[in-house]
Amino acid sequence: MSKVRFLAGLDVGSSKIRTVVGTIDEKTQTPNVIGVGIAPSTGIRKGQVIDVEETINNITTSLEDAERMAGEPVHHVFLGVSGNHIEAFNSKGVIAISHPGNEITEEDLDRVVEAAQAVAIPNNRRILRIIPKSFTVDEQKGIKYPVGMTGIRLEVDAHIVTGMAPTVRNIEKCVLQAGVDIDDVIPAVLASSEAVLSKRQKELGVVVVDIGSGGTSVSVFEEGTVLHTAVIPVGGENVTNDIAIGLKTSIDTADKIKIEYGSCVPTEVNDREVIDLSSLSKIDMQKISKRQLVEIIEARYSEIFMLVKEELAKIHRDGMLPAGVVLTGAAVKIPGIIDLAREALNLPVQIGFPQNFEGVVDKIEDPAYATAIGLLILGTRFESRSFGSSFKGLGIKKAFSGFKTWAKQLLP
Ligand SMILES: Nc1ncnc2c1ncn2[C@@H]1O[C@H](COP(=O)(O)OP(=O)(O)OP(=O)(O)O)[C@@H](O)[C@H]1O
Ligand SMILES: [Mg+2]
Repeated sequence: MSKVRFLAGLDVGSSKIRTVVGTIDEKTQTPNVIGVGIAPSTGIRKGQVIDVEETINNITTSLEDAERMAGEPVHHVFLGVSGNHIEAFNSKGVIAISHPGNEITEEDLDRVVEAAQAVAIPNNRRILRIIPKSFTVDEQKGIKYPVGMTGIRLEVDAHIVTGMAPTVRNIEKCVLQAGVDIDDVIPAVLASSEAVLSKRQKELGVVVVDIGSGGTSVSVFEEGTVLHTAVIPVGGENVTNDIAIGLKTSIDTADKIKIEYGSCVPTEVNDREVIDLSSLSKIDMQKISKRQLVEIIEARYSEIFMLVKEELAKIHRDGMLPAGVVLTGAAVKIPGIIDLAREALNLPVQIGFPQNFEGVVDKIEDPAYATAIGLLILGTRFESRSFGSSFKGLGIKKAFSGFKTWAKQLLP
């Protein structure tokens, strides 16, 4: 009888902490979601822990919530981290192949990827992911997996994602103190892409825009692999702050009116329409103009998309991605966002609902859960590799011994 394996994804965001628990289907290697948990994230601001105690409590609440639904305890998690401290760059590594017959082995792949890491990274930064985008064997470019090929020079083009070491360490400490081990730390932006993109979209060229609370993560894929990642320091929290300042309300009321009455289309709102805040708040009793609310929201979302456009221009992909834009994160649930993004970015736009998983949990069919589900999907892939079942050529011994490094290197 095959043993059931449990996995969990823990998305520690700046607004919410989301946990997803799943089992792995041995045949399809697809995660089957059996539990979901959510808690507010009151101890984190823009990806940084500002209150350890609160963060531990929030993580515990989220985990317990998911455990209750799953009927299983969570012992370890794939941890997703987000925030403006996440950065990425491209790097090259080159090695000589000097075995008899010059046949490239897995050890050579290890060596060449290690060579790509031999770049000056400040002491306070930590590599979170190394993604080999493509290999070159002698003059032959664009190779996805060179093991077994013959050559004398092996080169890799790698994408390296880093985070601020102390920031990541503080989140890890809170997770450990909440009583669970960490399988691996994964940048949230890479996890959400795994949940919302199809292989075809990644091949054609696509950008995932994850609008969270503290920031907006952007990741561009082309020819099946990641081309660019960046974090823009503007997110849903800025929209809320603008409303609070513009309409002179408390932050809580501003967030509530944004979610209840917000949209990105001022032209659809009658000039004279008013919202009586006393129905939403005991502190803010005034009446506000809905048109003004929507204008404030539209202005900030337009700015976010302008900054996304600038990111695309940096890599010469402005208006140039055939599979367009996929929007995820809770802040994309604002009405009118698709048209606004389409106009601003001049590309087809869709909302990215998490896919590539099984299980009948209604509430995760929501772009807000893309990161948590993505963590489960990546975790499933790592685990299968560690059992030596799905990764081409990676033997069981190697898979166990080199699991961490390989998992880091070969994804997404
Ligand atoms: N229905 C909605 N309409 C508009 N905005 C929304 C809606 N629901 C949530 N938001 C906004 O989404 C933001 C939170 O998004 P999300 O939960 O994805 O963030 P997070 O993952 O916790 O944060 P981050 O990824 O930045 O660390 C908040 O600013 C919130 O106001
Ligand atoms: Mg998030």
